[in-house]
Amino acid sequence: MDTFEELNIKGFVDEPIDPALDLFDEIERLKREKNAVILAHYYQEPDIQDIADYIGDSLGLSQQAAKTDAQIIVFAGVHFMAETAKILSPEKKVLLPDLKAGCSLSDSCPPHLFSKFKENYPDHLVITYVNCSAELKALSDIVCTSSNAVQIVDSLPKDQKIIFGPDKNLGRYVQKKTGRDLVMWNGACMVHEIFSLQRIVRLKERHPQAKFIAHPECEEAILQMADYAGSTTGLLNYTMKSDAQEFIVATESGIIHQMEKENPGKVFIPAPPNNTCACNDCPHMKRNTLEKLYLCIKNELPEVTVPMDIVEKARKPIERMLEISARLGL
Ligand code: 13P
Ligand code: SF4
Repeated sequence: MDTFEELNIKGFVDEPIDPALDLFDEIERLKREKNAVILAHYYQEPDIQDIADYIGDSLGLSQQAAKTDAQIIVFAGVHFMAETAKILSPEKKVLLPDLKAGCSLSDSCPPHLFSKFKENYPDHLVITYVNCSAELKALSDIVCTSSNAVQIVDSLPKDQKIIFGPDKNLGRYVQKKTGRDLVMWNGACMVHEIFSLQRIVRLKERHPQAKFIAHPECEEAILQMADYAGSTTGLLNYTMKSDAQEFIVATESGIIHQMEKENPGKVFIPAPPNNTCACNDCPHMKRNTLEKLYLCIKNELPEVTVPMDIVEKARKPIERMLEISARLGL
């Protein structure tokens, strides 16, 4: 097996796997043996979604991480999601198949720069989107996800001044929905900024019956065209409730696996990206593979850790989000 240093450089356990092994059976066996639970985000590859105990959006995954009885949480997602689980359950072992599964949105907001930015607005409350580092959460008053950001901002007194970070697109969407003026950090997600307006317009002309659905991390011009905007769970639910038979989907392509499973016969077309990208895959989410997941649960490595002082500071704004969400039935 790799040394600790090698593991940190590669990001994952790199050892040969017997090709005769059925990885699905092995992962199921290891889960039972170790009292482990697999929480997976909708952007994970289909095999990982199919073996997970729970699949969801960031809010659903945080709620599961807060209430699970399992000893080990295997987080099939990206680093900030595993960190959030560790902050909510610091006594548990939290594993991530590839430690290098990061997030461009989280990287767009370095905590030392955000701390300086925050100093300019001493009377503002800080709301941060969950897609950020544990250090950034520790600098926040309330965390939110794309499924509760509007309701959290709406739940605050009208005269409360607010800083919103790190996603400017979600911030603009919340600003529009709530009519509030937010001071915004200028961050964005690399996957949701690549959609081509022109190509989507043309695609819609060829599929006039299709509903166009988009994640609020998309740019304003894309969201303006959308028949529905929402978190990954929101998008999935919309496709299940809608009578439409065709959907153009502007978010990471992993969600289409669940959409197809839940809606046999309906057609899902990934929204076309501009010519800088070949597809709508998140390179961070797609670092995890079934093989890495198997090696991770087998070796109980790589483990995600968060310093205790950060856990204590970051837990309050996450718990505040979970309390508001529970009160609002989200
Ligand atoms: P949600 O699944 O909460 O909508 O988040 C989308 C996302 O970009 C996660 O990285
Ligand atoms: Fe981060 Fe965007 Fe990837 Fe989500 S899709 S993990 S926000 S880079």
